[in-house]
Amino acid sequence: MTTAIPSLDKLLPPPRQDAAPGCVWLTGAGPGDVGLLTLKALRLLRSADVVVYDRLVSAEVMAEVPSATLRIDVGKRPGCHGLKQTQINQLLVDLARGGRQVVRLKGGDPFIFGRGGEEMQWLQQAGVCCQVVPGITAAVGCAAAAGIPLTHRDYAQSVRLITGHSKSGEPDLTDPSLGATQQTLVFYMGLNGCVAIAGRLQAHGRSADTPVAIIENGTRITQRIFITSLGELAQTVAREQPQSPALLVVGEVVRLYSGQSLSTLALTLAG
Ligand SMILES: C[S@@+](CC[C@H](N)C(=O)[O-])C[C@H]1O[C@@H](n2cnc3c(N)ncnc32)[C@H](O)[C@@H]1O
Repeated sequence: MTTAIPSLDKLLPPPRQDAAPGCVWLTGAGPGDVGLLTLKALRLLRSADVVVYDRLVSAEVMAEVPSATLRIDVGKRPGCHGLKQTQINQLLVDLARGGRQVVRLKGGDPFIFGRGGEEMQWLQQAGVCCQVVPGITAAVGCAAAAGIPLTHRDYAQSVRLITGHSKSGEPDLTDPSLGATQQTLVFYMGLNGCVAIAGRLQAHGRSADTPVAIIENGTRITQRIFITSLGELAQTVAREQPQSPALLVVGEVVRLYSGQSLSTLALTLAG
């Protein structure tokens, strides 16, 4: 078997003779809290031959992988070049062609800003079995767990998930409808572009006192939440130095944040 990682042949057990042909399960791991993993994802993690995972997948989720299962970390880190996307794609093809059941584990949902769509296309073009297992995306999981409803009959009739980091590096915020009130905007990867985000949204008509929540490490034990406004966003980021992964939630629904984490409360009651 030719693989993107030369030493992989030695690490992998031989394909199981009795098993179905290899398949890649593009699987969402949720935002971090292991309790937010789907039952289907958990079952797959426990039966996979190989787990190929990203940097965003939490240690708690990885702890659910049996110790005998081969794990391959393909996470890209800032300033450190891991495998290129094409190498990851080819690795998945090679593993499945070798008869392995492969869980391709991604933070959140595999199809929300996770390049899962590209991996699916590559696998399909290679004629490799590919199944998709949805996960709870960060916007949905982190906001709800923080007690911020993304929609609310009085404050927001729609919600938009936006990347703060496009192919060009700059957020694409030219759409004037971003200025409409009564909608919640959630920016993924928005920390570096926060000055541009705040400026463009105000240029489109959002007021400077529109509330913003910065959710860092949402649903994880290290979670931190900062409440600010569009007018103060840049100063808050400079002062508090939130780290990735972090989301920016923009809109009137942020006023409903009470500081009482619902998931913590539920755990306290259960305990
Ligand atoms: C490459 S995107 C992947 C998104 C993922 N596929 C999803 O559905 O959540 C990475 C970004 O997701 C957001 N993110 C993921 N997990 C998060 C978490 N636990 N807390 C806050 N933001 C998170 C951050 O904006 C991070 O930079």
